[in-house]
This record gives sequence, structure tokens and C-alpha cells, in this order.
Amino acid sequence: MLTVALPKGRIAEQTLEIFETIFGDEFKFESRKLILDMGAFRFLLVRNQDVPTYVAHQAADIGVVGLDVIEEQGLDIIRLLDLGIGKCKVAVGIREDDELDWSKPQMKVASKMVNITRNYFSKKAMGVEVIKLYGSIELAPLVGLADAIVDIVETGTTMKENGLKVAETIMESSAHLIANKHSFLAKKSEIMELYTQMEKVVRGS
Ligand code: PRP
Repeated sequence: MLTVALPKGRIAEQTLEIFETIFGDEFKFESRKLILDMGAFRFLLVRNQDVPTYVAHQAADIGVVGLDVIEEQGLDIIRLLDLGIGKCKVAVGIREDDELDWSKPQMKVASKMVNITRNYFSKKAMGVEVIKLYGSIELAPLVGLADAIVDIVETGTTMKENGLKVAETIMESSAHLIANKHSFLAKKSEIMELYTQMEKVVRGS
């Protein structure tokens, strides 16, 4: 049996649709249930940012999660396949009337993604004070909490409607199939069979 960690929301739904296409069955969580057993698979519904944790600790053999989360957490997992869903980018946002001033000695940047933020600005040799927030990141530059933000941009609507613009794109992201290293060795044929089937569906769409 393969245990699969899925991130609650649209990506879980779209991943289950891929399973439906492969197996011709209905893959659907009953309301409020966090475990779904279907044939050779057990699906776990977890918080987006927790998917790599479940997989790294082998509470799940495989999982589906955005590249941004994989990058931010830096856990020891295997990245298997780009599913081409949940596309977004991680970007630096500033006020529309502002410019990024790289000559400043230090900048205050608000973000949920503190590691991506630190790495990006240290590569640019810019001193940065990272202010960790848990949501509504777009608010920070509007009220003087930060000079800039690092956040997920999907349609760009949230930034636009809050008078912000993208100053730099840090990375493009999409949902990836990941695996635990030990599971990948112990259950290689099952995982590779699923990988091949998923790849076919993803390529066809
Ligand atoms: C993300 C992000 C932005 C928004 C961007 O939050 O933090 O606020 O989506 O999307 P847009 O470019 O289409 O407007 P999300 O809704 O994923 O919620 P979260 O803060 O709980 O991660």
C-alpha cells in the first residue's frame, strides 16, 4: 500500500482527478475526514506546508506539494514529477510608487517564506531583516511594517488590489510529486508504476 499526503484544497482535488483518470473510480474524501482508503492507496489530507514533513518522516510514502514549499523547507525528500498544476510564482512585491533600492544597506522584508527570502537577498548581497508573517502579507508595505514582501503570486490580483507590484520574480512554482527516500527504495515498483501512470495523464493534459 502507498500512503499519499495531499495538500487540502484545489491541489488535492486536482490530484484526485488524476487518480480518477488513471483508475476510472471515484476518489473523494467524505466531508471532514482526513483519511481516504482506496484500493492500494491511503490518502492523507494535510496542510500544504506540512506535506514535506509527513513525507520526510515517512508517515506518507509520497506526497504532492508546490515547489515553493519544497524549496522553503529544504527537507530530505525525492522530487519525482512536475504535475503542472497549482502554478504560481514567488515574487518580491513593493508599493506601486516605489522602486527596489539595491544600494540601501538593509531592507525590511515581510514573508511567510523566511528561508527563500533570506537566500534570495543574501545572493544579492543585500542585508535583510525578515519579518515573519502568517498571512495578509500584502498589508505590510502599506502600513510601514516592511519595505517589501516575498509572497506567492498566482493571478496577481491580491497585489494589484492592494497597490503593490512585482519587483522581481524569485522562482516559478507548480505542484510536484515527491517521495520519501526509504519508501522509494522499499516500494520502488509501486511508486514507479504510479509515476508512469501519472506522467501519462499529466502529459496528455
Ligand atoms: C496566496 C498569497 C497571496 C495570494 C496571491 O495566499 O499569499 O495572498 O495567494 O494570489 P493572487 O495573485 O491570485 O491574488 P493563499 O490564498 O494561498 O493563502 P495563504 O495565505 O493561506 O497561503
